[in-house]
Amino acid sequence: MKFFIDTAEVSEIKALIPSGMVDGVTTNPSLIAKSGRNILEVIKEICALVDGPVSAEVTATTAKDMVTEGEFLFGLASNVCVKIPMTWDGLEATNALAAKGIPVNVTLCFSAAQALLAAKAGAAFISPFIGRLDDNGLDGLELIEEIRTVYDNYGYETEILAASIRSIGHMKDCALIGADVATAPPSVIRKMAGHVLTDQGLAAFLADWKKTGQSIL
Ligand code: E4P
Repeated sequence: MKFFIDTAEVSEIKALIPSGMVDGVTTNPSLIAKSGRNILEVIKEICALVDGPVSAEVTATTAKDMVTEGEFLFGLASNVCVKIPMTWDGLEATNALAAKGIPVNVTLCFSAAQALLAAKAGAAFISPFIGRLDDNGLDGLELIEEIRTVYDNYGYETEILAASIRSIGHMKDCALIGADVATAPPSVIRKMAGHVLTDQGLAAFLADWKKTGQSIL
């Protein structure tokens, strides 16, 4: 499973790169607003740091304007992936951009029916928001399962980009289900490394090692 980092904070992305966990980045208008920075500057900076796809979201709401914004965003760097909301205009824009060879991430997906439309429109990625479904008493992981089945039934190449991830459990379950990508905040990815038995085991190893009086170097 590929890991995308769900943030517009350049320092957080930089800090994760040495671990090999950064296969791409996702941003959205709220994350850009939170960063307090200019979208064009941030996207260019992130694209220069990361080899993989960097999602930059359009804010227009008509198909025509989404295409214009999408082409402009794609012109910023060759690894920009244009993020488009799951609306009918968004589907038309996705179809138009895909026909020009511009990769699109269809975002704000909350049903398998929407995911089917996005695949048919030619989306490179579909972003089902699992945390927001869970927040509303629904089952986000069930949606990932459903989309996996639909896409596998017909051999759609659109990648399932599990989004709105809140926990280590979400990451693990997305991997078990077979999501192609999961995008998560840096804090969730870092938490995945932790286990109380790892901490206890390491403490015991180091204590025993100290008693030997040896050193490797
Ligand atoms: C993904 O592309 C979205 O930016 C993100 O995962 C949304 O997460 P949230 O529901 O925590 O805002």
